[in-house]
Amino acid sequence: MAPLHSLLDHFPQISLLDRPTPIQRLEGLERSLGLVKRGIKLFAKRDDYMALGGGGNKLRKLEFHLGEALRDKVDVVVTMGGLQSNHARLTAAACAKLGMRCELVLGRAVPRDDEEYEHNGNMLLDALFGAVVHIVPEGFTTASWADTRAQELQMQGCKVRVIPTGGSTAVGCLGYAKAALEIARQEASMGLEFTHMVMANGSSGTHAGMAAGFAAMGRAPGFIKSFAVLAEAPESHRRTLELTRQTLELLGSEQVIEPSMIAVDGAHRGAGYGVPTKAMLSALQLMARSEGLLLDPVYSGKAFAGLVADLESGLYAQGDNILLLMTGGAPGIFAYRSALQGA
Ligand SMILES: Cc1ncc(COP(=O)(O)O)c(C=O)c1O
Repeated sequence: MAPLHSLLDHFPQISLLDRPTPIQRLEGLERSLGLVKRGIKLFAKRDDYMALGGGGNKLRKLEFHLGEALRDKVDVVVTMGGLQSNHARLTAAACAKLGMRCELVLGRAVPRDDEEYEHNGNMLLDALFGAVVHIVPEGFTTASWADTRAQELQMQGCKVRVIPTGGSTAVGCLGYAKAALEIARQEASMGLEFTHMVMANGSSGTHAGMAAGFAAMGRAPGFIKSFAVLAEAPESHRRTLELTRQTLELLGSEQVIEPSMIAVDGAHRGAGYGVPTKAMLSALQLMARSEGLLLDPVYSGKAFAGLVADLESGLYAQGDNILLLMTGGAPGIFAYRSALQGA
């Protein structure tokens, strides 16, 4: 079987980030959480730290989606998500850089209709990046509305590419298979191996791509744990497993993935997608005050809250090296001002 880097080379891709993103030790948090005496080390993979569009995990998926779109001479990229979608904002930014038209089909996935949520944060930036924004009327799904809009554009003679929610297809997941390779190389140069990796799980492509990448390198992906923030955990698990298998198939890898190799925890989703939890609000403060770093209220804040709870309950042991995947999303903070100020 060919090595992962040469399998990835077969797919059209463009460069949207200055890789590798850094891996940093979180010593302030190790002190705040009492990990020094327990012999547990904490690190962050800074996928929030990218030059384009404010950065975030979706740029890795877009490297492959937009690589295909450019190869196919697409004129208009249509994608979808919630009003405060980071994926939508980064698709708009990447299209602006590449000189492609971008249309965003956004739905009201979160029970909010206040000024901040509807117009600040990612919504403000979508417009700044020049994307055309369509708000889906009640009673329709973002996917059906995006397909209808794509048909209209095709009738006008445009070549259109529709990218599903979160960019989470097997093609998009290649971006995180490539990230797994990047992390494995960083481990080699740091002279350590991460015993655990923690991240948020929304549309599941980040976990699935990472799992597929490590599996393709012959490393069982059970050391990765994601916290479900969109669907309930069983559905997120099903979707992550399916996408991991599809990504390995696309790569031409024969690695077998058993359901037990995919760990998805639903304990920090709270009342639902985009609904703040007390633990998330404390996690954002803890990260900001111990490290001067920003998590987001919808995804990485809930994942980090899960990691803190697991550390407090004694899940991790002496000698563990834990890697938190920081996935970006800081613009979302500005749509959650009242929740954060009330915390
Ligand atoms: C900031 C941030 N973190 C994590 C995720 C979760 O990634 P995925 O949708 O691939 O599960 C998202 C998805 O939208 C995101 O915007």
